[in-house]
Amino acid sequence: MPSVFIKTYGCQMNERDSEAVAAQLVAKGYSLARSESVADVVLLNTCSVRDLAEQKAINKMKNLIGTARGEKREQIVGFIGCMAQSRGKELIDRLPDVDLVLGTQKFHRAAEYLDDLLSGRTKKIVDVEAEAKSESTIREHLLNGSAKKSVSAFVSIMQGCNQYCTFCIVPYTRGEERSRTIPDIVAECRELVAGGVKEITLLGQIVTSYGKRDIPLLDGKSAFVQLLEAVHEIDGLERIRFTSPHPKGYGDDLVEAYARLPKLAESAHIPLQSGSDRLLKLMHRGYTRERFLGIIHKLREARPDIGITTDIIVGFPGETEEDFEQTLSLCREVEFDNAFIFKYSSRRDTPAAEMPDQVPQEIREERNHRLLETVNEIGKRKYDAFIGRQVQILVEGPSKKNAARYTGRTRCNRIVLFDGSARHQGQLMDVKVTRTGSFTLYGDPAIVNL
Ligand code: 5AD
Repeated sequence: MPSVFIKTYGCQMNERDSEAVAAQLVAKGYSLARSESVADVVLLNTCSVRDLAEQKAINKMKNLIGTARGEKREQIVGFIGCMAQSRGKELIDRLPDVDLVLGTQKFHRAAEYLDDLLSGRTKKIVDVEAEAKSESTIREHLLNGSAKKSVSAFVSIMQGCNQYCTFCIVPYTRGEERSRTIPDIVAECRELVAGGVKEITLLGQIVTSYGKRDIPLLDGKSAFVQLLEAVHEIDGLERIRFTSPHPKGYGDDLVEAYARLPKLAESAHIPLQSGSDRLLKLMHRGYTRERFLGIIHKLREARPDIGITTDIIVGFPGETEEDFEQTLSLCREVEFDNAFIFKYSSRRDTPAAEMPDQVPQEIREERNHRLLETVNEIGKRKYDAFIGRQVQILVEGPSKKNAARYTGRTRCNRIVLFDGSARHQGQLMDVKVTRTGSFTLYGDPAIVNL
């Protein structure tokens, strides 16, 4: 049977989609290739959020095509996911050797299309149509039979986004918000837990809008909080996380859920984007600086140890030095555990691309650099404060960078490296933090167990 290699760019949702496509292909008899150079099929699961991500995937595809041609190898190659969705047939016009372009609502048809291409029945396939109920098709996992047994799994709960932030391409690549039902999601989580999973991360482009249109409030609780409660009931599940939320979804019901549901891990990734009210408005974010600060305050009241991370864009059109300083000052005030900083990248067909006062590239670079320094300095201080403390970690497996070390995560989502072995995998264990690296803690289980 043919072998397939899938390379993933972008967010955790893309990772999850790739996993589901891989599981689907394995179920149809495909094998997973060790590397792209020995695969019969290579799929690039793409990201469109910034231009750089698109360029990376396009260059990769050019390389693949060039290498296969040089070695006179037959290889089926395809783009899947977000860039496939937003660019469609244009990708084949530009790179005529590409065989398949598969959009974000069509992952479940990958096997059928690859069969057609491999048998020569069809020469090229482009499918980026919308498909009703496609949100419910991403449910296969590679749990059993895969080399590494996962302790942590991602579960897709909804697709799409209706927020239409003016900088963001996601509503155009992922479509309108569509949510799976609570019983469907819970059934998938139960299966995962039965297979040994201890931590589940609920995924969606805007998870706090989960079920908004289909599931009414219950005792003042949003559909998303109702879902958290239902997943929380699963015996054997130890930790629940979710990403990405929108700040406006942090109503009192969600803050209260943090206080009430012990399995809900004390970490939150809450995208800020800017600390300036003027920019937040231009970005169409739907909250103010004050509201954002209020959420952080309430969350820390509910869970003093909560780890809070964020996303920030620098150089959005019209961003002045004053606006940027508002972002800097907010970061100093909140003291995020980490912040992912993005230089604004103009995306076609988004309103911000047409806005006046686009910020020169050098200024985007300079602000990126300044903000990074502030964020890193705060992060280092916060990480160093862990030295000497005992933390509970869930051990995920050998570290990717150094196989002699094992890696786990604290409840507040910090990575901990320690000298471990296979018997630790999947275990919840206590370690004492001995030193820190860049956004990493080093722990010693022996000290705790003495
Ligand atoms: N330019 C730069 N960063 C962007 N993001 C989304 N769109 C853009 C863009 N056009 C960032 C946001 C978002 C993260 C996933 O990517 O910060 O939260």
